[in-house]
Amino acid sequence: MLAGMRPLRGIVMAAGTGSRLAPVTLGVSKHLLPVYDKPMVFYPLSVLMLAGVRDVLLITTKDDLPAYQRVLGQGDHLGMDIRYAIQQQPGGIAEAFHIGRDFIGSDPVSLVLGDNIFYGHAFTPMLQKARATNTGATLFAHAVHDPRRFGVVSFDADGAVQGLVEKPQNPASQYAVTGLYFFSADVVDVAVSIAPSARGEREIIDVLEVYRQQGRLQAQLLGRGFTWLDAGTPDSLLEASMFVQAVEHRQGMKIACLEEIAWNAGWINAQTLLTRLDQLRGTPYGRYLDCVLNGQGGGGQST
Ligand code: G1P
Repeated sequence: MLAGMRPLRGIVMAAGTGSRLAPVTLGVSKHLLPVYDKPMVFYPLSVLMLAGVRDVLLITTKDDLPAYQRVLGQGDHLGMDIRYAIQQQPGGIAEAFHIGRDFIGSDPVSLVLGDNIFYGHAFTPMLQKARATNTGATLFAHAVHDPRRFGVVSFDADGAVQGLVEKPQNPASQYAVTGLYFFSADVVDVAVSIAPSARGEREIIDVLEVYRQQGRLQAQLLGRGFTWLDAGTPDSLLEASMFVQAVEHRQGMKIACLEEIAWNAGWINAQTLLTRLDQLRGTPYGRYLDCVLNGQGGGGQST
């Protein structure tokens, strides 16, 4: 935990049906599909860990819950506390704050979408700075080729957020709102106050808009040296896998190796890492954990 700050709680939203990936997702949750050498959900979870989050609520569907519990358990192997909740039907991303109300309590919370992959230099200090300076809501924006697929944020001449629109036909900027957000604890009340959109969902962008109107929204730009991927279509899923493969082969360091992040943070001891290694021995992932344990690992993602 950062000195003098309330603990930051984390929510991973992994409740989508993955309809754009059917038939692949007819039998398995989208966020458990492989992105190269690990389940997709490892990537957003790693972001929360880099932000210093140890208490996580993973929201998924009733059918998929047992699979997540098999993959992540209660988080003991990571020195974390991972809990689970169910979204009964697709009610929008902002419903995470209704579902997570008791979990959030009076602590700030970071929300990450289960299909978002972030990779870039100096990400950890960026996350910690955003966490320290957040007075209401923080979004992370990244320039994209086709902003119409995303929430879009535009800025005024002073760099303040001017407008927020979900999947606009005529985007006011190239900047997509990525699926990573920091909020103060009052997000629970804000999320209750917004009305469902035309498609019947509580939109995260409407939550951000409330904070913007209150002058409590800050935006952090992820520059061109930064990579942000979503893995929601067959092409983007394959591209994400190839990106991770290329970086990992070249550098010899894994992206989103959860055990490595926990180890570097001092959340687990050698015995815990060894136990995990024994479960995965004989795999490339296990061999990597062996290197981490023996001091030959990469030293963590983009610190
Ligand atoms: C959601 C948000 C959108 C954001 C995107 C990032 O869209 O509604 O504002 O830009 O995640 O991945 P979805 O992918 O659920 O359509």
